[in-house]
Amino acid sequence: MAETTSTSRGNWNSKLGFILAAAGSAVGLGNIWRFPTEVASNGGGAFLLIYLLCCFAIGFPVMVAELSIGRKTNRNPVGAFKALSSNKLYPLIGFWGVLCGVMILSFYTVVAGWTFSYVFEEILFFTGFTEWATLFADVTHGVKNAIFSVLFMGATVSIILGGVSDGIERATKFLMPVLIGILLIMIGYVAFQPGAGIGFAEYLKPDFSMISAPLIFSAMGQAFFSLSLGMGALITYGSYLSKKENIPEAAAYVTLADVGIAFLAGLLIMPAMYMAESFGVDIFNDAGELLASTDLIFQVLPALFHSLSTTAGIIFGTGFFLLLSMAALTSTISLLEVPTSYVIDEFNIQRKKAATMIGGGILIISLIISFDIALIDSIDFIFSTVGLPLGGFLICYFLGYVWKVENAFEELEQGYHGLHTSLFKTIWPIFIKYIAPLAILYNLLEAIGLITYIQELF
Ligand code: TRP
Repeated sequence: MAETTSTSRGNWNSKLGFILAAAGSAVGLGNIWRFPTEVASNGGGAFLLIYLLCCFAIGFPVMVAELSIGRKTNRNPVGAFKALSSNKLYPLIGFWGVLCGVMILSFYTVVAGWTFSYVFEEILFFTGFTEWATLFADVTHGVKNAIFSVLFMGATVSIILGGVSDGIERATKFLMPVLIGILLIMIGYVAFQPGAGIGFAEYLKPDFSMISAPLIFSAMGQAFFSLSLGMGALITYGSYLSKKENIPEAAAYVTLADVGIAFLAGLLIMPAMYMAESFGVDIFNDAGELLASTDLIFQVLPALFHSLSTTAGIIFGTGFFLLLSMAALTSTISLLEVPTSYVIDEFNIQRKKAATMIGGGILIISLIISFDIALIDSIDFIFSTVGLPLGGFLICYFLGYVWKVENAFEELEQGYHGLHTSLFKTIWPIFIKYIAPLAILYNLLEAIGLITYIQELF
């Protein structure tokens, strides 16, 4: 029964296809604009270290958990929890995930639209249409934002319509290698430009005095966001995975690919910022902090590109924003696939209808955000910074104490023949049952000030 369901729902064609799709979901705007500046404004190498710790000690175990729940049940996040427990409360974990996915996608589409509009901005600038270029550069321009959101959502829906192997797998198999190629070429170019050396040093030099509770909280949130964890995206992707595949091994590849690309993005962006500074571009705000996220990507870097010769500017300017758009597209695909698979499985609706309906619904929220971009920060905070670790905590709890590690092992041993004699078998349960959930809980309570409150009581 499970087998027939899985074939009719779709399956990955190959292991590489799955890994690229999952890595494509992970690698996105989070890696290329959020990560490098978080590193810069949080003590360079110190943040990098804590971030790596969060990815490997919390992210990787949760990723294995999501993938095994998905492959075991062959279901979307809501259906998966229904299948594994008769308690009606647990599917709420899946609902929370679907809701987080819908809300994250609603603002992600707008930001992705900016990256795509900057492809045109660069071309227009270098072909002398500077007034038009200024229009495409205006992130507050509601109508322009709305048009690009429609374009981006259209592209996402059209890939999802193709289904799992013909749509998602084929698109990411092409997009991911191109992305890595463009990234490497740009790092090679920027590395030898004036100012690059300071950027490398700022990026890699650890300042341990910067380690603090807020730093750890943002590193954890960044790890969840970047690895696409905590909302069931990997439960969904796991549900298309063949029983032949080794889940911990695949999860390790995805984690390494994501961390690796974030690291590479840092090697590009940090030197690029100081290169821009050497060209006279302002890269610090009034408080003396390095400009971050939106300002960095949509002000500093374009200013840098504009100072290049026409040929170099066109190649690197359009190349960079094309790269960002592609990274964003492989991520919006995974965000849309979660609510789509939910509607397909639970309401028996055809893929085409489901994807169009859900994509259209989310687009309405994106259009509202297009005209009021201040909404992005609050939605991001509630549904990613808090929402994803919360989802991750609930997934750990469910796997460790409801479904139970022994049952997960039964799923994991398919495709992983050495499981029973492995170190993984000894360590993973400790992380899933104790280390990851406690670390997440502590951080969440710390963030809402509860820990300080309790300390003050004594
Ligand atoms: N990981 C993506 C990024 O870094 C964003 C993303 C895609 C995501 N799918 C997700 C985040 C699912 C959380 C959950 O840009």
